[in-house]
Amino acid sequence: MSAEQDLPRPTTSYEADPEQVGRVLLLYSGGLDTSVMLKWIQDRYGAEVVTLTVNLGQPGEDYEVIEQKARDLGAIECHTVDAREEFACEFLTPAIKANALYGDGYPLFTALGRPLIAKLAVEVARRSRCDTVAHGCTGKGNDQVRIESTIATLAPELKVIAPVRSWQMGREEEIAYARENGIPIKQGTEVAPYSIDDNLWGRSSEGRWIEDLDHAPEDDVFQLVTRPELAPEQPQTVSVEFEAGVPVALDGNRMGLVDLLEAAAAIGQRHGVGIVDHIEDRIVGLKVRDIYEVPAAAIILTAHKELERLVGTIHQNRFKLSLDEQWAYLVYAGLWWEPLRSDIDAYMDAANAEVSGTIGLKLYKGSVRVVTRSSPNAVYDASLASFSESGGLFSQTASPGFIEIFSLQSRMAWRLRNRP
Ligand code: ARG
Repeated sequence: MSAEQDLPRPTTSYEADPEQVGRVLLLYSGGLDTSVMLKWIQDRYGAEVVTLTVNLGQPGEDYEVIEQKARDLGAIECHTVDAREEFACEFLTPAIKANALYGDGYPLFTALGRPLIAKLAVEVARRSRCDTVAHGCTGKGNDQVRIESTIATLAPELKVIAPVRSWQMGREEEIAYARENGIPIKQGTEVAPYSIDDNLWGRSSEGRWIEDLDHAPEDDVFQLVTRPELAPEQPQTVSVEFEAGVPVALDGNRMGLVDLLEAAAAIGQRHGVGIVDHIEDRIVGLKVRDIYEVPAAAIILTAHKELERLVGTIHQNRFKLSLDEQWAYLVYAGLWWEPLRSDIDAYMDAANAEVSGTIGLKLYKGSVRVVTRSSPNAVYDASLASFSESGGLFSQTASPGFIEIFSLQSRMAWRLRNRP
């Protein structure tokens, strides 16, 4: 009897039949779950493992250490891909143009990263002749949806296994398995760590007391952003320049998007900006709480939204709100490859063609406030907006006629509903 016998049988078209798993591309972070998986897949499936670690700008990661760990645990090939540029240009840029926030507060950094990670997994799996992709997502989260739908869309020939979803190991058993198999454990083992995910665009924490909705954030959860009460007493003003909706300069210094986002994050962190304590409706129906630290997004999205409002007409601005919301939902829900998303992007590009100019923001102890705006494309004329002047394109004597016609139906309805 082989060890494969009590492995889960596939119930969908894209899950792997254990007998057919020969070489696995493992999405490897270097953490406990994926390190245990690295060994476990070799043990239980008798398969070879190739690892892929993707750099999306998560701070403080040492990729050489991760690769060495993977090799020590028996990986036959280890790949690290620096995908920061692609992430910024192909994923964060459309998100900025769409002012992307899910549920009014989550800038989607994880949701934007997963389709890219899964796409890279497909590329490396094909090059390294893997038949299966393995990831470390649980069965309750959004990330399994995003990763598996990407793989099933882009590479129907590849199969998926998700050991953490199917194995019956709790944290204790994982630690025991790690000890037995010589897998080094980074953190102490007494307290379960927060579940963290991060990249260029932000960081999330889940688990522990965060699951208790009545529990106010403990200080130690904030590892990226300075707590506002500890932020500098002096405010700082920062300016963001955009061209066609894309940030191109910070405080007058032109730089590439990756550098710009890192620089914006550093300024925001210092001033305690971008803390979001968020209740979220997951794709799979669960309601959960996340603590987000999103300093770059807090600065860039606030500036972008302001500039867009300035160059858009009233009709464009009202219409775009609902498209922004639709875009954010599609991306949250793992539907990056859905044609509606790229259809909407075509509109986003058109609406952003004029979004050029500079927004100044004041950062102070956790707040981001727009203080200056300038754009050659602003649909704004200071002389028209001022209260005293008349003339040019605007005639104040025409206003009563407008009011009479604009209010016509409402007045008629009022009269009907209030007849004696
Ligand atoms: N709630 C966010 C989302 O669904 C963040 C998830 C973080 N992922 C994680 N594996 N810890 O996009």
